[in-house]
Formats: sequence, C-alpha cells, structure tokens
Amino acid sequence: MDTKKKIVVIGSSNTDMVIKSDRLPKPGETILGGSFYMNPGGKGANQAIAAARLGADVTFISKIGYDLFGLQALEIYKSERINTEFIFTDSKKPSGVALISVDSFGENCIIVASGANQSLSPEDIDKAKDKIREADTILMQLEIPLETVEYATALAYEYGKRVILNPAPASSLNNELLKKTNVILPNRIEAEMLSGIKVTNLKSAHRAVQAISCKGIENVGKEGAFVKEKDKYIMIPAKEVDTIDTTGAGDVFSGALSVSLSEGRSLIEAVEFANAAAAIAVTRIGAQSAIPYRTEINV
Ligand code: RIB
Repeated sequence: MDTKKKIVVIGSSNTDMVIKSDRLPKPGETILGGSFYMNPGGKGANQAIAAARLGADVTFISKIGYDLFGLQALEIYKSERINTEFIFTDSKKPSGVALISVDSFGENCIIVASGANQSLSPEDIDKAKDKIREADTILMQLEIPLETVEYATALAYEYGKRVILNPAPASSLNNELLKKTNVILPNRIEAEMLSGIKVTNLKSAHRAVQAISCKGIENVGKEGAFVKEKDKYIMIPAKEVDTIDTTGAGDVFSGALSVSLSEGRSLIEAVEFANAAAAIAVTRIGAQSAIPYRTEINV
C-alpha cells in the first residue's frame, strides 16, 4: 500500500533566466555580471518538486503556454513523478519566465512575466475537484490570479483540507482568505505587507505575526523562522551554512513543511524539517536544481 501523503500544489510554472554578479544593479544602472543559467522554476513548480522529492504524492495544478518552455517543464514534472493531469495549456499566452539576479551573498532580485500562469482559472480548479477532495494538504502561492487562490481555498475549506499559503509575491489579502488558511508562510517583506508593521528585529517580527494572526489565521511561520502555533510563539533559528543562492529557498521550505505536516508532525517539528531542507537548498545554485531529496535530511 502506498503510504505517501497526498499534496496538491496549485501555482506557477516558469523558466528562470539567472545571472550571477558581485552585486545587484541599482535602478538605471548597467553592470557586468558573471555566469548565466537557464533553469526551470516558478514558485508553484519548485514547491511541487520539493514536496515530491521529500516524499509526498504530488498533483500539480498549473498552466503553461504551448511553447518549448512549457513542454520542457511538463517533461521535468513527469520525471519527478508528479501527477501532471491538471497542467493546462493556454495556446494564446507564453509560458511564464523569470529574470533573476543573484549577488555574491546569494541574495536575489526576481521579476516575473507571468504569461499563461495568469490564466489559471477557478474553472480549471473545478476540473481537479476530486484530487482536492482526496488530498491531505493544498499548497498555494500568489503567482497565479488571486481569484483562483481564493476559489481553491474556499473549496479546500469546504472539504476540510489543510491549506498552506506562501503569500509570495507580497500582496494584500482579504480576511476571508486568511480565515480559511491553516498555515501562512510569509517572508519578511510579505509579513510587512500583510501586517503593516516594519520587521527589523524579533520584537517587530512578533508584533507582525500577532497582527497577521488577528486576521483569523492560527499558524504563522516566518523566515528565520518566527513561528506562531496556536497560542505559542517561538523563534527557530535558520541553520548556519555557506549560502550560494537563496533562489527557491522559500519554496523548498514551503514544500518541506507541507510534507511534514501532512505526515502528522507538529508545526514546530515541521519547521525544523523545513529549515533543514532550505539550508541544503541555499548551498546550491538554482531553484529546482537545488532541491534536496528526503535521504539528505537528518531531522
Ligand atoms: O521562488 C523562486 C521562484 O520565483 C523562481 O523560480 C522564479 O521563477 C519565481 O517564480
């Protein structure tokens, strides 16, 4: 019998064009960079692959263009043993592309041309209703229309499913969506956007997390990671590693956390597992190329 937990990831599929340079350019500035890489990416796809490599049975709901990037991405998902039955094609829009700059500290700047990702609709979600009903966890981000995220969240809530939201890119969200979400995973910028509180230290992180949870959400995890589990607040420090590239680290964190919670661990245990997975990812170049396998994690 297959004991793998079922996770449905709903989100974006992109191709990443990455240039490494000593530092990130300022507005209006041209700088000479170093190596160029073209890698598969997209927050949804990265999270789907992370969940699959870390031991879940994953269905990925997404939309690609009818082009080479889209077809290449589809082949990758199949090779990762992800269920691609609900990866739709938009014949009028190109597949998503992200332009990424990475500096010598591994920090990045990302700009996304969403293309077909922006056509993933509530009607598409309806086609995958049975998969959502069968799932342990539904994992989403915000690189697809907010209307689709809201629709899928309402459906998952109706079916009594665990909903995990990585609210990236930062965007303001209504309380109705937050009330139906079990766990939200904002980074510093996203936490500031959701709470209206500038996060500069532990105290302000605590206040930001409190403000977000007042909107009706029980569990909040933050980069680093500052965690609120029901009434408990705890700071779980990130592991110290030699960071090469942080691209997709939040995606690995989100995918890993979803697997661990689906397997019945507590939020704190799941954050420790997710921290360990993300710590491996930042020591490697790229998004999907950096995602670890379950056997690499000793937590
Ligand atoms: O989180 C990293 C991802 O964000 C990249 O792979 C890029 O495609 C953007 O979606």
